Amino acid sequence: MPSIRVVNLKKYFGKVKAVDGISFEVKDGEFVALLGPSGCGKTTTLLMLAGIYKPTGGEIWFDDQLMNDVPPKFREIGMVFQNYALYPHMTIYENIAFPLRAKKMEEGEIKKRVYDVAKKLMIEKLLDRKPGQISGGQQQRVALARALIKQPKVLLFDEPLSNLDAKLRMMMRAEIKKLQEDLGITSVYVTHDQAEAMTMASRIVVFNKGKIMQYGTPDEVYRNPKNLFVATFIGNPAMNLIRNLSYIRKDGRAFLISKSLHLELPEDVAKKIEEAKKQEGLVLGFRPEDAEIVHEESGLGFWAYVYVLEPLGRDLIINLKVSETDELIKVFAESGVVVDKDEKVFVKLRPEGIHVFDSETEELIV
Ligand SMILES: Nc1ncnc2c1ncn2[C@@H]1O[C@H](COP(=O)(O)OP(=O)(O)O)[C@@H](O)[C@H]1O
Ligand SMILES: [Mg+2]
Repeated sequence: MPSIRVVNLKKYFGKVKAVDGISFEVKDGEFVALLGPSGCGKTTTLLMLAGIYKPTGGEIWFDDQLMNDVPPKFREIGMVFQNYALYPHMTIYENIAFPLRAKKMEEGEIKKRVYDVAKKLMIEKLLDRKPGQISGGQQQRVALARALIKQPKVLLFDEPLSNLDAKLRMMMRAEIKKLQEDLGITSVYVTHDQAEAMTMASRIVVFNKGKIMQYGTPDEVYRNPKNLFVATFIGNPAMNLIRNLSYIRKDGRAFLISKSLHLELPEDVAKKIEEAKKQEGLVLGFRPEDAEIVHEESGLGFWAYVYVLEPLGRDLIINLKVSETDELIKVFAESGVVVDKDEKVFVKLRPEGIHVFDSETEELIV
């Protein structure tokens, strides 16, 4: 299977810079997700990989072959869309066989291939039915079978699970992942759902407004986000942010402060903020699992009051505020933890869970 390399790829529609100079590579057999909000250029990128859109600039390489001018039918690509558009009057068998009929393949070979791929996707028993007689999840499998039947070397997915209900979506994402691992077909998977990207892909291209915000493994983009966009787009509940902080040194000790917050910083964090030469407009970020609620001042942390509780069965989310006007902070606690509404508590932070951003550039400082 080919590797894919995209170099400074651009697609402009008049004044709209849908894709604005992106570069990334996908290894042979790898499963990479393109993740970002609606309208950020994901589909446009996928359609350029497929050869349906011609790039405004830049290069697309499959291994060492430049693909820019190679027509779609010679790219050996399979595509799966959100709207799988099966032919309603044809049986499932005929729907899957359709791309091979167009190639005028011999009947015996078609039958063998259809049964083969139907078996992989566990839809052998549905081959005689029409699309209207099977469920949404089964229809999605048929669409996948139709993409696989030509034995593509690259698979492109565009939000293929968006039409399914939440439960089915979670089932299908595990199945698609397993299938991709078994087949080893180089795959690019477009989604706006961070949980889908995190659970399925070996690496994630995080996109915003036609540009790449970060490219890394799920663990890297979760643990070490490079900027505020990635920090808040990845993770649910999102990373907590406390904005408008100033950095000060007093009697050799370093603090992040606002009107209502006073956080003493570890020396290594303080050093990095000093190196960045930023003292105002700092943003503190930490994930809900990187804090703990305690009843007395203890180490790194700050005081806040309990706003509302959200029980989740296994966990409890404690929502807090530093002051009346501040945004909510969410902290995970074990379901047995006892706190009262409006109680003043100490939010104790794990030192390695602390991030500090520059609100002007939105880039990570620490
Ligand atoms: N054919 C087109 N003509 C003009 N503008 C387009 C076209 N396709 C997409 N766009 C614009 O390009 C941007 C990116 O679109 P798209 O790639 O579909 O985003 P995504 O798939 O991430 O939701 C959007 O602003 C969209 O309106
Ligand atoms: Mg799209």
